[in-house]
Amino acid sequence: MNSKEIIESNLNTSTPTNSQQLMQRSLQSVWHPCTQMQHHESVPLIPVTHGRGAWLYDADGKRYLDAISSWWVNLFGHANPRINAALKDQLDKLEHAMLAGFTHEPVIQLSERLSALTGNVLGHCFYASDGASAVEIALKMSFHAWRNLGHSSKQEFVCLQGSYHGETIGALAVTDVSLFRDAYGPMLSANRAHVVMSPDARGAQKGETAADVALRAAHALEMLLQQRGSHIAALIIEPLVQCATGMAMHDPVYLAEVRALCDRYQIHLIFDEIAVGCGRTGTFFASEQAASSDGQAIWPDFVCLSKGISGGYLPLSLVMTRDEIYQAFYDTDVRRGFLHSHSYTGNPLACRAALATLDIFDQDDVLNANRRKAQRITAALQPLAQHQQVQHFRQRGMIWAFDGVMSDAAATTFSRRFFSKALEHELLLRPIGRTVYLMPPYILDDAECDDLAARTAAVFESVIDNA
Ligand SMILES: Cc1ncc(COP(=O)(O)O)c(C=O)c1O
Repeated sequence: MNSKEIIESNLNTSTPTNSQQLMQRSLQSVWHPCTQMQHHESVPLIPVTHGRGAWLYDADGKRYLDAISSWWVNLFGHANPRINAALKDQLDKLEHAMLAGFTHEPVIQLSERLSALTGNVLGHCFYASDGASAVEIALKMSFHAWRNLGHSSKQEFVCLQGSYHGETIGALAVTDVSLFRDAYGPMLSANRAHVVMSPDARGAQKGETAADVALRAAHALEMLLQQRGSHIAALIIEPLVQCATGMAMHDPVYLAEVRALCDRYQIHLIFDEIAVGCGRTGTFFASEQAASSDGQAIWPDFVCLSKGISGGYLPLSLVMTRDEIYQAFYDTDVRRGFLHSHSYTGNPLACRAALATLDIFDQDDVLNANRRKAQRITAALQPLAQHQQVQHFRQRGMIWAFDGVMSDAAATTFSRRFFSKALEHELLLRPIGRTVYLMPPYILDDAECDDLAARTAAVFESVIDNA
């Protein structure tokens, strides 16, 4: 079927609804992300007209609980009055100004406040728009810093099995999800990173704890560093939860181990907190849940942040780094500077949205409130956790995941079937393979928490029965 035929076959009423008309126009003109467009022959496209709180509404007035925070970005609900007010105020002051040669209050304040959250260990913030750009920046900064410091042999990178760091070429080179990477293999081969064992707790052998798996993974990393350490610039990891590979969770001891190894072998450590930062795992930065053997906080050399930092309002990403790295670029020679740029770097509107987001964290004591919410959701999900066809039920902060037990054949269509069934239950949920996960915004009330769990269970029952 061509796209016109798809559209016609979807228009099964003589007078198309508003939703159907928008769907038709979208399928004709918009190429949607992360989508095999042909799947829209059977899976509906949902034209959204507005959002309120945790809910999205379509053009026919149907509503959907946004249980994955619109790709993990939305923290405090759609059309949040406090973020809206900040943006309206900023709109009348300054919508944008280039950040080379100019600066402005929102970007300064945001850098100061984020730096303070790291105890000023990571005191310099470099801005971009999407998560993948932040990853590119961290990789380039690491590479260039070593070069400026006279270690130009350090040109290689290390990532974890199942890692996901974005879709641009540099970010794909440190991504180990074959579905996203394989088509571009030849483009990446020159930069392909070393891939080491993931500390994913599901890999536990008989009698092993999650911490044992973490130590085993750290040992595998050390084997590589012993051989290639002098050629390696940086290790990049998603601390605590490797999200896009299917919410693979690991013990915090892994973070302490890799920090110690990176120090020992003189390798930069990049924490990609794009998905797990901003309170998602229970602390503002996921890495705050780890401590070194003498009880000190663990900080990497670079933190990448994006997604939730603007409350899910505007594209904003940033890389935070240490003074030593910053100083490695500080020179009279322009070529020793970090000349990377994007047109919208440090956009004032996006920074104001981020400042309003940080204000909500402070004003509403969000991290503690989330602890109570998480307990309630975990309790409500117990029937699912005990389900015979559920494996590896897991939770960290405001992320829940479990793996459906089914045949490989059923698994190939499970995610799409689950997504469609969930819509019938007014839920926006998109499993990754056979992994169902919840990453709701932080504003669900008690009834919504219970409802989310009950509806997820109902969808799972009906989809797994037909697996
Ligand atoms: C850990 C991680 N890094 C990087 C990215 C890429 O971010 P973006 O999609 O904004 O480019 C993502 C996106 O899901 C992610 O989860």
